[in-house]
Amino acid sequence: MEPFAAVDVIRTKRDGSRLTTEQIDWVVDAYTRGVVAEEQLAALAMAIFLNGMDAEETARWTGAMIESGERLALRVSRPTVDKHSTGGVGDKITLPLAPLVAACGAAVPQLSGRGLGHTGGTLDKLESIPGWRAELSAEEIRDQLETVGAVVCAATPTLAPADRKLYALRDVTATVESVPLIASSIMSKKIAEGAGALVLDVKVGSGAFMKTPEQARELASALVGIGAAHGVATTALLTDMNTPLGRTVGNAVEVAEAVEVLRGGGPDDVVALTLALAREMLTLAGLTGVDPAPVLASGQAYETWCRMIRAQGGDPEAPLPKPEHVHVVTAPESGTLTRLDAYAVGIAAWRLGAGRARKEDPVQAAAGIRCHAKPGERVERGQPLLELHTDTPDTVPAALAALSGAYDVSENSNAPATSGEGIMLETLRS
Ligand code: URA
Repeated sequence: MEPFAAVDVIRTKRDGSRLTTEQIDWVVDAYTRGVVAEEQLAALAMAIFLNGMDAEETARWTGAMIESGERLALRVSRPTVDKHSTGGVGDKITLPLAPLVAACGAAVPQLSGRGLGHTGGTLDKLESIPGWRAELSAEEIRDQLETVGAVVCAATPTLAPADRKLYALRDVTATVESVPLIASSIMSKKIAEGAGALVLDVKVGSGAFMKTPEQARELASALVGIGAAHGVATTALLTDMNTPLGRTVGNAVEVAEAVEVLRGGGPDDVVALTLALAREMLTLAGLTGVDPAPVLASGQAYETWCRMIRAQGGDPEAPLPKPEHVHVVTAPESGTLTRLDAYAVGIAAWRLGAGRARKEDPVQAAAGIRCHAKPGERVERGQPLLELHTDTPDTVPAALAALSGAYDVSENSNAPATSGEGIMLETLRS
């Protein structure tokens, strides 16, 4: 006999009251077991979307989702710390960051997802490396963490299964954009993964989930609050996502740019954000005396990258896939590029084949966009502005339509370049 009726739990939240600890534990568990029906959880998710959950309810909801599966017991000899980004356009930071922090002495278990919609997925990017495999067993994750110090792989199916089911339901019931549901979804997977500390990169702007600093601050504060409630030291950085990060958006193109950073080059904004996140991660891991900048410059992080890729069957030296078709968009006039909209570039890359519309769809490894100029830089009329890469040239018109109105070139502008430290907006600590 079940202790509650789903309809009473739905009514409680529909009428604006708090859910009790017992109601939350039961409803999440009963949904995972299939006792609460999809339509009942859909109604509850909508009630939560409309009436919210307070910090205590959200922490408990997260705990119930963690308990729906297994926790990954890491037990490695180094301090463990992970990073999560709420998703952005051109956000390849995990690729240089995980090996960098490992080369500095911490262990980074980065269980990632595939992309859906306009923000790319880390696993899709890494799968453009010949031979690289995303699926690892819990034993392989632990071994690689001990020997290499960094693992980027697919989440194991037993990690927060309630979230997997609920996320799919939210996706089709217009209930994704709820701060307590987003925060509990992210943190249930991260806490179940077992890292001792967590740094969150909360993106703000046109290319992010959170379009305004106020929304991003609310999400960051919910995430940090859940971390504190579950004893996981958590820091959130709010970072700008109005323009793409770096100069590439897509799969193989982003891997190539990450390798440039690991070899001591790469765009200023990617380097600055990688170092800022690495510093926060090392602080939380107790490695306060280690400066990641010389470790990146020395090539040690690149060596760790190569070991990390090889450990998962990939060849870090192999040529990356090249697109069958390249379409160049040129600057309409001479002047300063004052705006390059992240959302539009993300949609265009997705339409070229870099992303997927349904989770079962394949992605094209070579699809994406190369940005020849970043906001604040001078361009001359007719000079390449954007390079569209695809294996399916029939997608180019739709990508160009997404880019219509996405950038401005102005003769008289003193717009600052958006690279470097300018992308860091605020920091919230637990
Ligand atoms: N990412 C997640 O993992 N969950 C959400 O709800 C939104 C983004």
